[in-house]
Amino acid sequence: MRNWVLITGCSTGIGRALVPLCRASGWGVVATARRVESLADLPAGEDLRLLALDVADADSIARAAAACADLRFKALVNNAGYGQVGPLELLRAEELRAQFETNVVGLHQVTNAFLPLLRREPGARILQVASMLGRLSIPLGGAYNASKHAVVALAESLRLEVGREVAVVLVEPGAIRTAFRDSLPLVWGDLPQRSRGTRYEPVIAGYLESRKGQAERYAMDASACAAKLLRALNARRPPRRLVIGWDARWVGRLKAVLPAAWWEALLRRMYGLG
Ligand SMILES: NC(=O)c1ccc[n+]([C@@H]2O[C@H](COP(=O)([O-])OP(=O)(O)OC[C@H]3O[C@@H](n4cnc5c(N)ncnc54)[C@H](OP(=O)(O)O)[C@@H]3O)[C@@H](O)[C@H]2O)c1
Repeated sequence: MRNWVLITGCSTGIGRALVPLCRASGWGVVATARRVESLADLPAGEDLRLLALDVADADSIARAAAACADLRFKALVNNAGYGQVGPLELLRAEELRAQFETNVVGLHQVTNAFLPLLRREPGARILQVASMLGRLSIPLGGAYNASKHAVVALAESLRLEVGREVAVVLVEPGAIRTAFRDSLPLVWGDLPQRSRGTRYEPVIAGYLESRKGQAERYAMDASACAAKLLRALNARRPPRRLVIGWDARWVGRLKAVLPAAWWEALLRRMYGLG
């Protein structure tokens, strides 16, 4: 009998890249996405189940958990998430709530729905995908930064509570080349209009271009990132933290050694807030 892993957010990016790697390594994969049609091009097989799963919808989570009850369910990868952009003073409460609903509450609810299945299997594990922005904060990403800091806190508490039965791995990637940055404008809503006439208007205009440029120059390939998640899935003793990418490893260290005023001046300059 094969072991099964459920991955959230497999329509694109890291989640999508992880599906074939897990299958090639002998895992059965429950690949999930909000729109199950987005998974239709995955090659069919006995080692693949496709499920609709919107992590911001409790009924959808409960249905997915019920559909996995017959599996030897050994791992969960909480990967789904998105980035809400916007300076905090222009950010609406509902935008902040929606960001937490997916990145934090969704991850929490999926975890709780699958914990009973994971507990049945010795050596089971949960990979909680946070970000290097769960340890430090950048301007214009306050909502996302806060959500990923919350994921770090939840993972650390969960490990203390259940870590002896189910390993909890905190995944902290730096910049990864995925659809993540392309999807940023989708959640902008009327932010460009809201920023008109404010000091943020030119900052927001330049934001996407510079982020995309930086990411294309320095980001890690999604498959290389997924390969690191696979190692944690296969490891006899899974790591507590999986810090992925040179930026995730070094930027935090730079922040720790620089005087706070220098660090802030650097970020303001980078984002045109000088
Ligand atoms: N790319 C980076 O530089 C980077 C860095 C650090 C951390 N991360 C984290 O890595 C994870 C994966 O992101 P990615 O880079 O692979 O970006 P991506 O290509 O945009 O993939 C994100 C996935 O999450 C899904 N998703 C969003 N909201 C969802 C919901 N309510 N329910 C279910 N699925 C939902 C998306 O599905 P739809 O197609 O339905 O929208 C998509 O499949 C995220 O948690 C992200 O925060 C990314």
